[in-house]
Amino acid sequence: MPKSQDAATDRAHFPTNRTQPLAELVLRAPTVEHQRAPFGIGEPTPRLSWVIETAPPQWRQGRAELELQTTDGTKTYTIEGEQSVLIEWPFAPLRSRERARIRVRVWDIGPNSAASRWSPATEIEAGLLTPDDWSAEAIGASWQEDHESMRRPALLRSNFRADSIVASARLYITAHGLYEAELNGEPVSSDTLAPGWTSYHNRLRYFTYDVTGHIRSGENTLGLWLADGWFRGRLGFHGGHINLYGDETAVMAQLEVTFTDGTILRHGTDTKTWQCAPSPIISSGLLEGEHHDAQLGFHGWSLPGFDATAWSSVDPRKIDLSQLVAPDGPPVRCTEELQPLEITHKPDGRIILDFGQNVVGRIRIIARGQTGQEITLRHAEVLDREGELCTRPLRGAYSVDRYVIGGEAEEIWEPRFTIHGFRYVEISGWGQRPVTGNVAARIIHTDMLRTGWFECSDPLLNRLHENVVWSMRGNFVDLPTDCPNRDERLGWTGDIQVFAPTASFLYDCAGLLSSWLKDVAAEQHQDGTVPWFVPEIPGGEQWTPARPGAGWGDAAVLVPWSLYQNFADSGLVQQQYTSARAWTDLVHRLAGPSHVWDQSYQLGDWLDPSAPPDDPARGLTDPNLVATAYYARSAATVADMARLLNTPETQKLAERAEAARAGFRRRYLTGHGTLSSDSQAAYAIAIAFELFDAKEMEAAGKRLAELVHEADVHLTTGFLGTPVLLDALTQTGHVELAMQLLQQRTVPSWIYPVTMGATTIWERWDSMLPNGDVNPGDMTSFNHFSFGSVADWMHRTIAGLRPIAPGWQQIIYRPGLESGLRHASASHETPYGLASINWRRSLKNVDVNVRVPVGVAGFLERPDGTREPLTAGRHTFNWPTPVAGHSS
Ligand code: BGC
Repeated sequence: MPKSQDAATDRAHFPTNRTQPLAELVLRAPTVEHQRAPFGIGEPTPRLSWVIETAPPQWRQGRAELELQTTDGTKTYTIEGEQSVLIEWPFAPLRSRERARIRVRVWDIGPNSAASRWSPATEIEAGLLTPDDWSAEAIGASWQEDHESMRRPALLRSNFRADSIVASARLYITAHGLYEAELNGEPVSSDTLAPGWTSYHNRLRYFTYDVTGHIRSGENTLGLWLADGWFRGRLGFHGGHINLYGDETAVMAQLEVTFTDGTILRHGTDTKTWQCAPSPIISSGLLEGEHHDAQLGFHGWSLPGFDATAWSSVDPRKIDLSQLVAPDGPPVRCTEELQPLEITHKPDGRIILDFGQNVVGRIRIIARGQTGQEITLRHAEVLDREGELCTRPLRGAYSVDRYVIGGEAEEIWEPRFTIHGFRYVEISGWGQRPVTGNVAARIIHTDMLRTGWFECSDPLLNRLHENVVWSMRGNFVDLPTDCPNRDERLGWTGDIQVFAPTASFLYDCAGLLSSWLKDVAAEQHQDGTVPWFVPEIPGGEQWTPARPGAGWGDAAVLVPWSLYQNFADSGLVQQQYTSARAWTDLVHRLAGPSHVWDQSYQLGDWLDPSAPPDDPARGLTDPNLVATAYYARSAATVADMARLLNTPETQKLAERAEAARAGFRRRYLTGHGTLSSDSQAAYAIAIAFELFDAKEMEAAGKRLAELVHEADVHLTTGFLGTPVLLDALTQTGHVELAMQLLQQRTVPSWIYPVTMGATTIWERWDSMLPNGDVNPGDMTSFNHFSFGSVADWMHRTIAGLRPIAPGWQQIIYRPGLESGLRHASASHETPYGLASINWRRSLKNVDVNVRVPVGVAGFLERPDGTREPLTAGRHTFNWPTPVAGHSS
C-alpha cells in the first residue's frame, strides 16, 4: 500500500492548507456482494456496489446507470440519488450458471451534467442455485475402515472424453471431509482445506472452478483426493472427538463442459465409472498432522492412460442437496511463503528452523534421498530455554508431519489436509541442508483483501500492529477461531465479538463473517442460547451443554452490528436480526424484573492478569456487573437494529434497552460515577457502553484513571475490559494516559510481549513470563487476536481516522497529536474508496494530509476541537505545533 508515497506527493505539490482537485472522474469496476471474485455465486439477485475513485471538486453522484449484459441481451437500469453501496439487484434474477457482465456510469447532481465514461465491467457467474441442478452422485471409498482410529484419505478417479472444441468448462464440487481436485494431472485451483468448516448439518458449501483450460481433446481424467478434515477427523479438547458429523467421507463433483457447437457434457461422480484407491497419505488430521508415504503413490493417477485395473469401485454416499450453499467469501489459500531466518543444527542431526514469524500454514520441502527414508517435521510457536521446541501449549494438537521418500529423484512435498500454528520447525531424518528454495513456510488463511494499514513513529507500536495483522491472518482460516495452534481452533464467539471492529478495518472479512454468522443463527439453541463456539462441538462439562454467557453470546448481536458499521450492510442486519433478537430475548428473561443478569455461569472479564493461571474467570471484576452491562449494550443494539429495519417492535425494544440500563444503574452504581466493582474493566465497560449519565462521566473517568495510576500505569483487564479500556479513557479526557498505557513495556501490557520478541498477539498478557518460561497455565497460546482489538483504537485515535456513520459515509480526521508521537498514518479501503490520514509533527509545524473518498463527508478536527467540513479529494494542512505531552 503506497501510503507514504501518497503523502509525499501531497506534500510536494501542496505545501500548505490546499485542496488538491481530483479532476478526472474514474470509476472502478462494480463489486458484487462481498465477493472478491463473483464466480459461482449463490445469490440470484446479488447486491452491487461501485467506487468512484476520483472526481472533480464538489462532484456528487446524482444518478447512476447500471448496464447488464447477458446472453439475453443488454439491459440498463437507472438509479436516482447518491447511493453506491450494496444496491439491490434491479434486473431479473440470475439463473443457475448464468453469466453476466455488469458496468456502471454516473452523473453529477447538476441538471445538465454529462455522463461519466463506463466503468470497467465485472464478470459475474452464478453457481448451481437449486438442488435440481445437481446430477452427480455422492461417492466415497469402498474399503472397510476402522471408524475408531485415523483413516486413510482416498483417491478417486474417472475418465471421460471431450471430442469437440471446448468453449467453457466448470467443476462444481463439495465433500463431507476435505477434497482437492485434479484434471489431467493438474490441480484445478490453489484453494486448500475446501469446502471449509460450516455447520455441516445445516449448511455445506460447494465451490465452482473454471476448468476450461484443463480439458484436452480426447481422453481426460478427473481425479479427487478425499480426507477427513473437520467432518470426521478429531476436533476439540480433552482428547477431542471423531466422527462428529458422520463416520464416512463423501465427495460430489460435477464437471460441465460446454462445446463451441452448443453441446454440453456432464461428467459427475457416480458409482458406475468411478474407481478408488487408498492415497499415499497414510493419515491426516487437522490436529495430528499428516503422514505421507510417497512409496505408496500412483504415478500419473489423475492422467488419462493410467492403469487403474487394480483400483476398486466406489460406494454410494448421501449428501443432502438442500443444504448446499455457495461461498459468501473468498477461499482458503497459501498467500505468502517465508524462508527460514535462522537454522540450528543439533548434534544428533536434527535441524531447527526459525521463520522469524509465528505463522499458520505448513512446510513445503524439496527432498532428495533414499527410497523409504522418513522425514519428520514437528512444529511449535516457541522454544523452551534449552532451545528445543516447546509443544506443551499445543496440548492434543500434535502437529507432526511425516514424509517417506518414494524414489531417488527430487520430490516436492507439502501436507495437503492439515495446518499448524508455528514459528519453529524441527526437521529430522531429512539428511539435507536447508538452502534457499528447498524449504519454505507456506502461510495459509482465507484470502481476504487487505483493506487497512497503520504506521507511526514508535517501532514498538508498529510491531504490535503487525502482530495484530498476523494474528488475524492465522485465525481467519475459513472461520474466525480463537487460536490456530492447540486443540481448540474453534469459532469462539467472545473472541470475534471483541475483535470484529479491528478485523473489518484490516481486511475485507464481511463475506467470511457473514457466512459464519449464518452458522451462529443455525446453531443457536431453541431458547436463544448462543453456543460458546460455532460450529458447536462437544466441549466437556464446562461448555456442553452450552450456557448463555455474556460477551460470548452477545456476538450474535454485536458482530453483525459491527459489520454494519463498517460495511453498511443492512441486509446482513436483516439476515441476523432473528438470531440477535432471540439472544436478547433470552437474556431479558434471565434478567427478570430486576433487569440484572446475575443468575448465570459467566466468564466475566476472562483472563485478566490477576486471574490465577488455572482459573481465568476469577478476575477482579464482578462477572454479573459485566453480564448486566452486556445485556444493556445488546438490548440497545437490537433496538438500533429494529430501528434500522423499521420493524414495529422498535419502540418496545427501545424501552427494554432503557430498562436494562436502569437495571444496571440501580444495582451497580454506588454513587456519583462510582461502581460497586472498583476495577478498570468495570469502569471501562460502563463508560464505553454509556451506562453512566453524561454528568457522571467525568467522575467515572477520573476513577478509571486513578485505577490505572494505582496499577502503576498498567492495565488490569481481560478479554472484555481490554477492548474498551483506551476508548473509555479517551472519551473521559484521559487520552495521554491511554497512550502511556498503550506504550507501557512491563507486564501486563500490550508492548511487553513485543519486548519479549512476540510476532503475534498472545492469549495471556504473560504467555511467556519475563524469565523466558512459558506460562504454566494449561491454556497458553501465542496467537490469539483478542487483545489485538486495541488496534481499532490506534487507527481511530493515534492516526485519527474515525468513521461516524455506517459504511464510513462520514469520517472524522483528527490527528492524534496527544499521542506524543512524531508521525502516524492510517488508511482504509472504505465502501467508497480509500480514506487516509498521515500527519507528521516537527518542533514547529504539523503537516497533515488526508484523503476523503468521493461520496463521503469528511470533517477535519483541529487540536482546539473545531471541526471543518472536507470535500472529497486530498487535502493538506500545515499548523503550528501545539504544545503537548511526551514525545516518542
Ligand atoms: C479459548 C478462548 C475462549 C475462552 C472462553 C479459551 O480456551 O481459547 O479464546 O474465548 O476459552 O472461555
